[in-house]
Amino acid sequence: MRRIRKAVFPVAGLGTRFLPATKAMPKEMLTIVDRPVIQLAVDEAREAGIEHMIFVTGRNKAIIEDHFDKQYELEETLRKRGKKADLALLERDLPMAGQTSFTRQQEPLGLGHAVWCARELVGDEPFALVLPDMLIHAQPGCLRQMIDVYETQGGNVIAVEQVPWEHVSRYGVIGVSETKGKAMRIDRMVEKPPRDKAPSNFIISGRYILQPQIFAKIENQSPGAGGEIQITDAMIRLLGEQDFWALKFDGTTYDCGDKVGFLAANIAYGLDRSDLAPTLRQALKTILEKTGGL
Ligand code: UTP
Repeated sequence: MRRIRKAVFPVAGLGTRFLPATKAMPKEMLTIVDRPVIQLAVDEAREAGIEHMIFVTGRNKAIIEDHFDKQYELEETLRKRGKKADLALLERDLPMAGQTSFTRQQEPLGLGHAVWCARELVGDEPFALVLPDMLIHAQPGCLRQMIDVYETQGGNVIAVEQVPWEHVSRYGVIGVSETKGKAMRIDRMVEKPPRDKAPSNFIISGRYILQPQIFAKIENQSPGAGGEIQITDAMIRLLGEQDFWALKFDGTTYDCGDKVGFLAANIAYGLDRSDLAPTLRQALKTILEKTGGL
């Protein structure tokens, strides 16, 4: 079985739900407390043992490349001012030289197409796919939990979670058969099914371990939902040839591509910080009192 060494982060979407914030700035640089969403995704990948981070970017996304680079002037100023803790933080977050690659999706033709843009950088090996705006608060991280499943089952692994039945039509949904340890064998996948056609209320939630044969499937995939090339449609075709396992991970997801999900993530991550929680709790209480309570 081949080790998972590389992770792909598709960050070429338009982020229309966050306009005007995302007019000139990528939505992946929006912050959860003080860390950009993309940094949290990279943190999760590093914790899982990923060695190479591949970013599929688009126009207006150069700032992401700068974020993962050394900032000499800033570091020099911090050094002169004796800001040791800030310097240590920057140093800790900096990927090693050669650990990042960037490629561009020239047109936002869909998530499947964005993944396909990474094919040369991934090469002929299984890889992780991480959608940064699906932020998953978990200990150990969601990707670590998935790699544990991959190391026993092999094949392809998809993180899933249960949602209320009335929400299934917004997501990729799976159907399962046998259960092996923590993994459930996937026997069906459907992209955005109506409630009465959904095989379960387990939705695909933004983390995948995929075999490289997915690239050939995407290559001749015609556009699906929303006129975009969908990764789920390509996975459905690969499902006939390879094993797909679902992991119902332990953790909480915040959809940071959505305004309420993003605001909720900021509150949850803020309350998780011992340096911020007491004052944040007080501020929330005051806001709720002033605005008529819960
Ligand atoms: P979304 O469905 O959230 O789309 O993409 P979006 O364009 O980013 O945002 P909205 O809906 O307009 O507000 C899910 C993930 O797939 C990436 C996005 O960057 C995000 O990480 N993506 C999507 C691409 O990289 N390319 C695409 O063509 C579409």
